[in-house]
Amino acid sequence: MNARDAFVKEFGTEPAGLWAAPGRVNLIGEHTDYNDGFVLPFALPQRTVAAVGPAPAGEWTVCSTFADEAVSFGLTQPGEVTGWAAYVAGVVWSLHENGFEVPGARIAIDSEVPLGSGLSSSAALESSVLTALIDLGGLDLPVERRPVIAQRAENDYVGAPTGILDQSASIRCREGHALFLDCRSYEVEQIPFDLAAEGLAILVINSNAPHQHVDGEYGARRKSCEQAAAILGVPALRDITGAELEGALARLDDEVMRRRVRHIVTEDDRVLETVQLLKAGQVREIGSLLTASHASMRDDFEITVPQVDIAVETALEVGAYGARMTGGGFGGCVLALIDADKADVVTAAVEQAYAEAGFTPPTAWTVTAGAGAGKL
Ligand code: GLA
Repeated sequence: MNARDAFVKEFGTEPAGLWAAPGRVNLIGEHTDYNDGFVLPFALPQRTVAAVGPAPAGEWTVCSTFADEAVSFGLTQPGEVTGWAAYVAGVVWSLHENGFEVPGARIAIDSEVPLGSGLSSSAALESSVLTALIDLGGLDLPVERRPVIAQRAENDYVGAPTGILDQSASIRCREGHALFLDCRSYEVEQIPFDLAAEGLAILVINSNAPHQHVDGEYGARRKSCEQAAAILGVPALRDITGAELEGALARLDDEVMRRRVRHIVTEDDRVLETVQLLKAGQVREIGSLLTASHASMRDDFEITVPQVDIAVETALEVGAYGARMTGGGFGGCVLALIDADKADVVTAAVEQAYAEAGFTPPTAWTVTAGAGAGKL
């Protein structure tokens, strides 16, 4: 069933419209967002669709194709709505907290974004609902201010201490482009990213590894980075340049903290280099930066698991130009930059490596850069 059919079934009438927002793949720039640094995501073709219609003021009801029961709520405080509907209640709360008069609404959700795979299914849900409510209520909220509203839903209502990457990607990405985002100023540059024209493709390999201790580990990484910035006397690790890195590391006593800092500072540089190469049309050449990013996440930031390491190694062995884990870590997906006609070969090799290691089989598919949130 799609979102429109779910709406009709639940509410017995047609929705006023359909709004969609995509999941994302982060090409490079991992854990740099909450360090005020740089990221380069692109939108997935897979998206979440919200079928939305009006309801009396102060009343919201949300149902979905993946949950049995509809959930109704008024204006709530963080924690009052739980489960998947919390992302919707959080968006309503966040808009209200920012001074907007949120229109009452009936909402039916359907999603093609795989859940819990590090492809930002939660940001896609938040962004689809946010875009729908803004349009439905005629709210004056420019696109560049929207990601922060959705992020606040996630940070303060749902309670996940994430950065601005996922919501920015879901809302601000454009088809055929990667989004170069400065996570301090929120300035963006749309970088042309048409791999098919080069005979290339990005293969996404979902490791299907179970996520473990994800929330605690994410928060621990964030805390370590913030402590390091405080010790170094800078507002955020973004303020340490590559040239200053060795000097900064010498001022930190803790070996683990030194590695965390090295990942962030080198990763910011890799994002900037990737952007330069893409702008120069040297797409294959970004491969080594992707692979270096993976090594940095594995050895310095320590957020990978054997399943993603093996997927990266195997993809490289069978000819990928570069490969890395994408997203928050501890499982999730790997992306590999490959010749477009190599997808089957790479997929088969990773499947075989997983079988030999006794892992749950991976799922792989090629992706192109899709569109950001909008009305269908
Ligand atoms: C998760 C978070 C993002 C970002 C990435 C890592 O996806 O939601 O804010 O920190 O991890 O780059």
